[in-house]
Amino acid sequence: MSQSQETLSNLLQETRSFPPPAELAAAANVKAEAYDEAAADRLGYWAKQAERLTWSKHWDETLDWSNPPFAKWFVGGELNAAYNCVDRHVEAGLGAKIAYHWEGEPGDTRTITYADLQREVNKAANALLELGVRKGDRVAIYLPMIPELPISMLACARIGATHSVVFGGFSSEALRTRIDDAQAKLVITADGGYRRGKPSALKPTVDEAVAQTPTIEHVLVVRRTGEDVAGNERDVWWHDLVERQSDQHTAEPMDAEHPLYILYTSGTTGKPKGILHTTGGYLTHVAYTHSAVFDLKPETDVFWCSADIGWVTGHSYIVYGPLANGATSVIYEGTPDTPDKGRWWDIIQKYKVSIFYTAPTAIRTCMKWGDDIPAQYDLSSLRVLGSVGEPINPEAYVWYRKHIGGDRTPVVDTWWQTETGGIMVSPLPGVTAAKPGAAMRPLPGVSAEVVDDQGEPVPNGGGGFLTLTEPWPGMLRTIWGDDERYVKTYWSRFEGKYFAGDGAKKDEDGDFWLLGRVDDVMLVSGHNISTTEVESALVSHPKVAEAAVVGATDPTTTQAIVAFVIPRGSAGEEVEGEEFLKELRDHVAKTLGPIAKPRQIMMVPELPKTRSGKIMRRLLRDVAENRSIGDVTTLADSTVMDLISEKLPSAK
Ligand code: WT7
Repeated sequence: MSQSQETLSNLLQETRSFPPPAELAAAANVKAEAYDEAAADRLGYWAKQAERLTWSKHWDETLDWSNPPFAKWFVGGELNAAYNCVDRHVEAGLGAKIAYHWEGEPGDTRTITYADLQREVNKAANALLELGVRKGDRVAIYLPMIPELPISMLACARIGATHSVVFGGFSSEALRTRIDDAQAKLVITADGGYRRGKPSALKPTVDEAVAQTPTIEHVLVVRRTGEDVAGNERDVWWHDLVERQSDQHTAEPMDAEHPLYILYTSGTTGKPKGILHTTGGYLTHVAYTHSAVFDLKPETDVFWCSADIGWVTGHSYIVYGPLANGATSVIYEGTPDTPDKGRWWDIIQKYKVSIFYTAPTAIRTCMKWGDDIPAQYDLSSLRVLGSVGEPINPEAYVWYRKHIGGDRTPVVDTWWQTETGGIMVSPLPGVTAAKPGAAMRPLPGVSAEVVDDQGEPVPNGGGGFLTLTEPWPGMLRTIWGDDERYVKTYWSRFEGKYFAGDGAKKDEDGDFWLLGRVDDVMLVSGHNISTTEVESALVSHPKVAEAAVVGATDPTTTQAIVAFVIPRGSAGEEVEGEEFLKELRDHVAKTLGPIAKPRQIMMVPELPKTRSGKIMRRLLRDVAENRSIGDVTTLADSTVMDLISEKLPSAK
């Protein structure tokens, strides 16, 4: 690593920083003192955060870490997650408060108050009981972004059934393996949902999956699109079963460590991992971070996280965090370009969204579409912006802040994972002078370190691996049914530390910069260079909207840098020829140093991405190394690779 530390520290030269607006800082939920407070008594700090929740029985011990890496948080405590997300707000007199502004893609809407949510969740809980679902059973949920999705999750939580939400874009094979792994008894689905202006069916995929799953007893089907669905013995319509249930149900307290949900991470290799999250610690972590990182003021803010609930971001920051905090949130069913590319900004204007949380890939897409689109909307309600999912390139950060945030809103770049349950490394909007591209510091209560390959912390200015050095309440408890794999995957690389799989560096101020998965670090003439940094350098060129970089085998340099670049909407003709490619190569050399100069740059119309928006570098490596292209089944749009291949003859 010593060489890479040197190289990494010499690359990105970002010097901009944006201090918090004075007014926001003065009224911030979390102030600078929190770092000292948590450092002095970490467990005491978390215990204080747990007081945000309503416990039926107080815990005896904050953390039991006697059998690492198997943690128990808030030992002996009891609570019900659905009660905490719904009932207690109604009991506090907030029944009329809006929990969700739901917006369907075709333009239909539903306004759901906390009292509505309570009735709906109770009915759904009673329906699950009628179908024979009991505490400890697993329920698979395969739904579009409609209100029945959070309602189903909360109904499960209410009766102690463990939900396993499977993203609605996944294939029947993916659904089947997840159902089998969790041995789910029930699937909750819909006829379909709306995507890009058309109904998109779900039920046939479920039928195909369930034909081969021995454990499924029933399929509960929501009618959304009204399209015909094949009937089956096992099927039950939501509107038949749920609507006739009583809207009264008493939530049963669960042990703090009761399994709340399983969420599968696809991973790039091997069988999907069922990440297990439990009740008390998880809910504490997401409620705290949702309040601290977004400075949520539940009385006045309107929060919108644009992720799909099928990903952990949606679990934690559309469902559990916001509801535990009694917030008002937006849920949007469809794509950002339906009916036109202003749809997101129209939603922000319409509901006066004040906190917006999205992913770098979406931000870069909006950059590509052009500044003039958001400029047509009133976005002045926004006061905090967030980013998650991959490193955000400094240019994308600055664009987001300027064109969406009106140059006034802090942007919080939040690092975390399905496994961590909630945000771990992030600026605090009222405290941190945030640097574009940096996730900055571990949150108060979180212990993280960048270490070298011996597990030793690197000094400021050094680079290495991001590790978490103490347990945290939202941490995964295990991989469902596979404790051994849990230990091996996360706790074996560095003794006593959780290794997240990400490369990171610490700058001279000790702030953290995430550099992507360590598998995405290239070895070029003996230097380790992160794909993220080269991508950021490319995106900092005014004519580049998006870039993906891979290391391709090279006889002289071990690996050579190959870049795939999407031009900006306004860049026009001049981006084609040889001249421009040279200009880009020189731009990278100037920004990062000659060692980072790409051997080859290809202009492409699109980049291959997974459905959660991550670039599939594996496929680009196939192109760069002139191989036939591998498995494309997890691509969001499988035609993208054809578009790229067509471009190949002109590649230089
Ligand atoms: C991986 C986790 C966390 C919810 C969405 C993704 C990357 C995530 C950042 C960030 C740099 C980031 C990491 C991480 N990642 N956020 N702010 N900066 N990288 O959840 O699918 O479990 O992916 O996403 O590589 O390990 P996930």
